[in-house]
Amino acid sequence: MTTTSSDTSTKLRERIRHAITSQQQPTITVLSSLLAVQDAIHYIPDEAIEEVADHSRTSINEVWSVASFYTNFRFTPPGRVTLDVCWGPSCHLLGAQNVLKAVQDELGIDEEATTEDGTVTLRYSTCLGACANAPVVAVDHHMKGRVTPDSAAQLAAGLRTNPPESH
Ligand code: FES
Repeated sequence: MTTTSSDTSTKLRERIRHAITSQQQPTITVLSSLLAVQDAIHYIPDEAIEEVADHSRTSINEVWSVASFYTNFRFTPPGRVTLDVCWGPSCHLLGAQNVLKAVQDELGIDEEATTEDGTVTLRYSTCLGACANAPVVAVDHHMKGRVTPDSAAQLAAGLRTNPPESH
């Protein structure tokens, strides 16, 4: 049996509707609905714009204007694993720039982006909240402190060849 794009879209819409309607508190604003969707599926697909407009009884243009205003929303699916590299003050003082460069070189990207194979999404962080362990990186929000350029590059290489099962 094959999965059609229509099946995929239907399942995606179900997950989006569930995210919007199953919050402990009702999602009463466009922004809170979009945040609920991003928390649930890690990005805002076109289907989410339509579902949030429908749920909020507003227009697609209105939802799009809110979504595009906030830089934290992403509109393409993330990689299987997310690698955050902190470049906040503490990490910066202890070598974050070299850590970041080593990770970018290893992943073959030179900015916040997802690797071509869709495995790893690199993000920059202004503080991961573990400054005492600087420089810090995080894999799907699991922190690793006192990294070096070499250890961070090794970590990034490992994520590409053997990404964690859950996202
Ligand atoms: S500045 Fe990097 S964890 Fe706080």
